[in-house]
Amino acid sequence: MTGRLDGKVAFITGAARGQGRSHALTLAREGADIIAVDLCSQPAWMNYPLSTPEDLDETAKLIKDLGRRVVHTVADVRDRAVLTEAVAAGVSELGRLDVIVANAGVCPLGDDQPDSTWFETVSTNLTGVLNTVEAGLPHLREGGSIIATGSFAGMRPQGVKNGPGGSGYSYAKRGVAQMVHSLAMTLGEKFIRVNAVHPGNCNTDMLNNPPMYKAFRPDLETPQREDSLESFASTQIMPIPYVEPSDISNAVLFLASDESRYITGTQLSVDGGALLKAGVSGL
Ligand SMILES: NC(=O)c1ccc[n+]([C@@H]2O[C@H](COP(=O)([O-])OP(=O)(O)OC[C@H]3O[C@@H](n4cnc5c(N)ncnc54)[C@H](O)[C@@H]3O)[C@@H](O)[C@H]2O)c1
Repeated sequence: MTGRLDGKVAFITGAARGQGRSHALTLAREGADIIAVDLCSQPAWMNYPLSTPEDLDETAKLIKDLGRRVVHTVADVRDRAVLTEAVAAGVSELGRLDVIVANAGVCPLGDDQPDSTWFETVSTNLTGVLNTVEAGLPHLREGGSIIATGSFAGMRPQGVKNGPGGSGYSYAKRGVAQMVHSLAMTLGEKFIRVNAVHPGNCNTDMLNNPPMYKAFRPDLETPQREDSLESFASTQIMPIPYVEPSDISNAVLFLASDESRYITGTQLSVDGGALLKAGVSGL
């Protein structure tokens, strides 16, 4: 099937790399034009590298290579005013808005992090999602789709206990899941649906960094990626260390397309059975 998003416009945060870039290219391949934003800088409190302006430029180039239009802006999801301007500029150039993908996030794990990391993480991963939806919603058409990226960590009751960043991460992602319920109730009558995708371990820079390796292999002084692969794999029921960004993008594409027109308020795990393995079945 092709052209599942023909004529539509999607606004995607965290689009410079990783899952966000994969979502942008997947939706563009199916016909969508893209409003792409990302931070493209390194906050002092972050303990692994975030994206660069070159990453966002590369995403934009790849979208154009697919024959689609793109408006890309460096913007911080914590700054609602800047985000609102970025979406408005995109809608003004591309003509409409049909899909919001609130994907940007951080996961600064480690017991060595200051307490303030909890607040920085929540302001990015929860307030940033609320800002993204609030910035896009006034432009969203009837039949529109809001997709928020949660996490396995937010869906399992005990969350992730690995310093203030881990606690803040779990709290924020649980908040994202609850937002989806509440907002789906609010916007359903307007035929705007709101859903979450919850990745498990996903093969991006958020998983492939030293603090994450240490979280999976606390027994080693300075674990490397190869030291952590077996431990990554212990999370899922399926014998895999992680899913790929394209696995999440396929779920996002379905939720963005009209094929999911009556699906709202759902929590869609794409995690190789990690949540089930953690004892959370919903039954
Ligand atoms: N990788 C995993 O294992 C995993 C698991 C569960 C959930 N997630 C979630 O998936 C989403 C995408 O993460 P990813 O795996 O692609 O990691 P990633 O680090 O490759 O991508 C995250 C992107 O968000 C951007 N970003 C961070 N703070 C921002 C801000 N304040 N404003 C704008 N952009 C900002 C980063 O620059 C980066 O480009 C995140 O919400 C993350 O929490 C990831």
